[in-house]
Amino acid sequence: MIDFNFLSIAKLEPDTELEPFDCGDVDLNSFLLDDAKNYYEDFLGVTYFAEYNQKLVAYYCLFNDKIVFDFSGKDDPLRSQWKSFNKKNKIHFKKQRKTYPAVKIGRLAVNSDFKGNSIGSYILEIVTTMITSTRDIGCRFITVDAYKDAFGFYLKNGFEFLSSEDEGDNTRLMYYDLKRIP
Ligand SMILES: CC(C)(COP(=O)(O)OP(=O)(O)OC[C@H]1O[C@@H](n2cnc3c(N)ncnc32)[C@H](O)[C@@H]1OP(=O)(O)O)[C@@H](O)C(=O)NCCC(=O)NCCS
Repeated sequence: MIDFNFLSIAKLEPDTELEPFDCGDVDLNSFLLDDAKNYYEDFLGVTYFAEYNQKLVAYYCLFNDKIVFDFSGKDDPLRSQWKSFNKKNKIHFKKQRKTYPAVKIGRLAVNSDFKGNSIGSYILEIVTTMITSTRDIGCRFITVDAYKDAFGFYLKNGFEFLSSEDEGDNTRLMYYDLKRIP
């Protein structure tokens, strides 16, 4: 078991030196080593990495997002999806919008040697706390384009599928309502 007192999280800066990382997914491995710093320099995403006993055990990348329901008329099926979304998330009709502010988890990966130790879940808690603790900016949801293999992980952590339209796809848009936090 991991002792989370020894797990530290830091922001990836342009001068951060990283050791090789393997989470079992080539694209996610190479994002960290080849792209993350460019995203940072271009203000497109901020990457954080987790170390445990000085070993690189996980990383995640965050950027701003929004949940959009771009329907046109009463008969647009997206309108009924929007209505059930509002109902499910208890958004009062006076506060209902076609777009809601969100933060996207652009990437999340745990070192293969450390999977199944609740590090991924811990990171989701860290992200939630980071967004909600200061309340410096409006953000209602966390979003993620989840890989098929990770649907179960996000569902266990309280995420839901936004729509049934991407059912059967290899990645699906999932969201977490930050207002659910007690
Ligand atoms: C998906 C990933 C981030 C999960 O991280 P992790 O630290 O291993 O997950 P946790 O230990 O916090 O798991 C929390 C719960 O989710 C479950 N879970 C974890 N990965 C799962 C998966 N792929 N499918 C179904 N359930 C999963 C765990 O069994 C655990 O359930 P429990 O509480 O009943 O024991 C990690 O496996 C990973 O990096 N995978 C490869 C890259 C990837 O798919 N990233 C997601 C991109 S969207």
